[in-house]
Amino acid sequence: MAQILLVDDEDSYLEVLSDTLALVGHDCARAHDGREALAAATGTRPDLVVTDQMMPRMTGVELLLALRETEGLAGVPTILLSAIRPAGFELASRFVQKPVHFETIQRVVGELVEPVARARSDQTTRNLAQTREEALNWVAHEIKNPLGVATLNVELLLSTMVDDFERKHLLTLKRQLERMDELVVSVLDAASVVEGRVTLRRSPVELGGLVGELAQDWRVGFADHVIDLTVRQRAVCDLDRERAREILDNLVSNAVKYGGEDRRIEVIVDADTDAACVSVRDHGVGISPQDLRHIFERFHRAKQGGRGHGLGLYIAAALARLHGGRIAVDSKVGAGSTFTLRLPRSDYLPGGAAAAGRGPRT
Ligand SMILES: Nc1ncnc2c1ncn2[C@@H]1O[C@H](COP(=O)(O)OP(=O)(O)OP(=O)(O)O)[C@@H](O)[C@H]1O
Ligand SMILES: [Mg+2]
Repeated sequence: MAQILLVDDEDSYLEVLSDTLALVGHDCARAHDGREALAAATGTRPDLVVTDQMMPRMTGVELLLALRETEGLAGVPTILLSAIRPAGFELASRFVQKPVHFETIQRVVGELVEPVARARSDQTTRNLAQTREEALNWVAHEIKNPLGVATLNVELLLSTMVDDFERKHLLTLKRQLERMDELVVSVLDAASVVEGRVTLRRSPVELGGLVGELAQDWRVGFADHVIDLTVRQRAVCDLDRERAREILDNLVSNAVKYGGEDRRIEVIVDADTDAACVSVRDHGVGISPQDLRHIFERFHRAKQGGRGHGLGLYIAAALARLHGGRIAVDSKVGAGSTFTLRLPRSDYLPGGAAAAGRGPRT
């Protein structure tokens, strides 16, 4: 668990302390005096130094002073062992009176090394997460080219004289390759947004107008759905148009995917004094309270149908945050869901008078 340096001129003490601390998983190195201890600690920085006071050439307190003055060792926690409190005993993190009791030394050592062990384990978890992240992004990146080449080959074959049987299977192959490509693009997009490698190209955008334009595209793309747009209040926000579109495309594509048999999607643009919002409402399967807590996490998908990678909301939420906004959700199983994107408006006038007018229902 922790690397401990034991310092005592008596071998029998070193032996029993070492075995006592080994019982609770610590790894102990030994030194017979202060100088040997300093040399050992400089070589491998210990997590804790446990030293006796009465030693030849250098006392325990002198060793504590020397540790304090040595670069890289000043912060190492220390325990001083002695029958009486010597002058300067306060230099030690803890003082333990000799004779040392089995339980006392285990407890005091545990208290001092626990924060060190916790910090080490947190760091290991962070390193592992980073390695996993890098591996995932590397795979996504490396797969992109072969996928492109495979798709091109399938398209080439499809353009030649193929019979119906061959065409059917080539088309299936092409669809699967496209699906893999979507996943790769989403993984790489998520990585760049979340790691802050995306710079927004912002300009003032009237939100009702933008959503009006997007609604036209959605009506073409999802021709078997009714997309009902209401602009209640017009408002200007500083937006990266493409990224704002990406957020809203994600919300609408979810409303289509999880909207069930009812093919009505209501999109409402509204604003209050300092923020504008777009809500996307469907009447589909809804989301259970358990899933609701996790839907913005990467790769999280609820069990109901629909095809996806569990990345859309993760990316959309990160993009909303980059804009200084957020996405909220209200949902009931069987009744549908409403996702609301809220963005700070840039035409806010102090005193509540926003420079916007009532917009028409389109
Ligand atoms: N409107 C909705 N109604 C019901 N469930 C939804 C809705 N939107 C999202 N969900 C649930 O949240 C999960 C995460 O959504 P998200 O958009 O992140 O991923 P996805 O749609 O599965 O895949 P993709 O990465 O292609 O968007 C979905 O798998 C789905 O279970
Ligand atoms: Mg989605």
